[in-house]
Amino acid sequence: MAGLRAWVAQAPPGARVPSTRALIAEYGASPVTVQKAVHVLASQGLVESRPGVGTFVRAARTVRPPDYGWQTGALRSPRALPPPATPLRGRLPDAIGLHSGYPERGLLPERLVRAALARAARADVALSGSDIAGLPELRAWFANELARATPTGTTPPAPRDVVVLPGSQSGLSSTFRALVGFGRPLLVESPTYWGAILAAAQAGVRLVPVPSGAGGPDPDEVARAFDETGARAFYAQPNYANPTGAQWSPELAGRVLDVVRDRGAFLVEDDWAHDFGIDSEARPVAARDDAGHVVYLRSLTKSVSPAVRVAAVIARGPARDRVVADRAAESMYVSGVLQAAALDVVSQPAWRSHLRALRHQLRARRDLLVDSLAEHVPDAHLEHVPPGGLNLWVRLPDATDVDRLVRDCEAEGVMLAAGAEWFPAEPSGSFVRLNYSGPDPDRFPDAARVVGRALRR
Ligand SMILES: Cc1ncc(COP(=O)(O)O)c(C=O)c1O
Repeated sequence: MAGLRAWVAQAPPGARVPSTRALIAEYGASPVTVQKAVHVLASQGLVESRPGVGTFVRAARTVRPPDYGWQTGALRSPRALPPPATPLRGRLPDAIGLHSGYPERGLLPERLVRAALARAARADVALSGSDIAGLPELRAWFANELARATPTGTTPPAPRDVVVLPGSQSGLSSTFRALVGFGRPLLVESPTYWGAILAAAQAGVRLVPVPSGAGGPDPDEVARAFDETGARAFYAQPNYANPTGAQWSPELAGRVLDVVRDRGAFLVEDDWAHDFGIDSEARPVAARDDAGHVVYLRSLTKSVSPAVRVAAVIARGPARDRVVADRAAESMYVSGVLQAAALDVVSQPAWRSHLRALRHQLRARRDLLVDSLAEHVPDAHLEHVPPGGLNLWVRLPDATDVDRLVRDCEAEGVMLAAGAEWFPAEPSGSFVRLNYSGPDPDRFPDAARVVGRALRR
């Protein structure tokens, strides 16, 4: 009934909406469809029904623009929070979206997710609350995932060490609040995930950048930063880091773990891309620690579905208790429907075959984008081809005005993310992050052509 909506939009306030009979004749719709359409317009305040009289187009209520200026006086100056990042922006119609952080639908286990949600809707969880730390079976699954990577001689995590989260973003906030605290220093790789920078700003945590790149951070630099600042925690992504795609070697993981242990500190390990290995498997550092030094975050949001937003933090000892206390204050518990659906998906045999197929899809996309850049953007420098994850981290000539490049490309239908958002301090160069998990990979060569042209301008 788009025609009726269009008619209402151009009709003067107070105009009488034609009778149901007239609308049926005009639009060839059934009486139920017409009544539903009028009901929707009424619920949106566009028309009003006067019983016994008829239905009328409503006058626009606002006669002057509202003035919210008083709020600035009441709220005073804001604490400086960075603006929401580019990857959260939707895709403009028909644009090629290399900016986004979330995989497109074709990369998700759609059939498993739909069936799991339908089953969860019929189960008791649809009408009940959940434990603060999450459903016991899901906690056991997360613990077991990490236990599978745990070497013999190291005590694997137990289900009680697991706290289920509504996405790992809120786990970052809780971890920073509970284990670092307001005004205290936190070491982070530079560049690092913009959402971690945001969560730290919100928690009032002071970031201390440690340079990192295709090979991960230098453990001596990590040690120096700990010693100079007195920090007690280091946030890092040892597997397929966002944005660089770096994966730490087992040797580097061991050395960083030694640094952390020697200082009685924590490694906050964000294993966001665990399911997105391409040339390798993710190797959680947490699997090598049973003394509670590694606080491990594992998300299913991007691999199961952005709508089944479930993640977990695995922490041991008092650190775990503090995270639980923070979660209780923050949100009490995660919807049991989403937890049950996530568990259902990852427990199906088809989940493993989905992950195997995904690896091939991601490899084809990554390689196509790498080849397209090599052909059409010769000035772009890729320090390495990432062995996993969803992104290429591309360095551009130093004189590049990256914001302008992003605007120019967007005007030609290609959306990119400017690299500055991933730096906790000044950017160390001109970068863009290109995500290869968005829709229409066939158009990657076109996108690269646009970037190449804009860069030459
Ligand atoms: C490195 C990293 N950590 C955490 C998150 C947050 O993920 P979630 O959707 O689980 O909150 C993201 C999302 O982009 C990410 O890239």
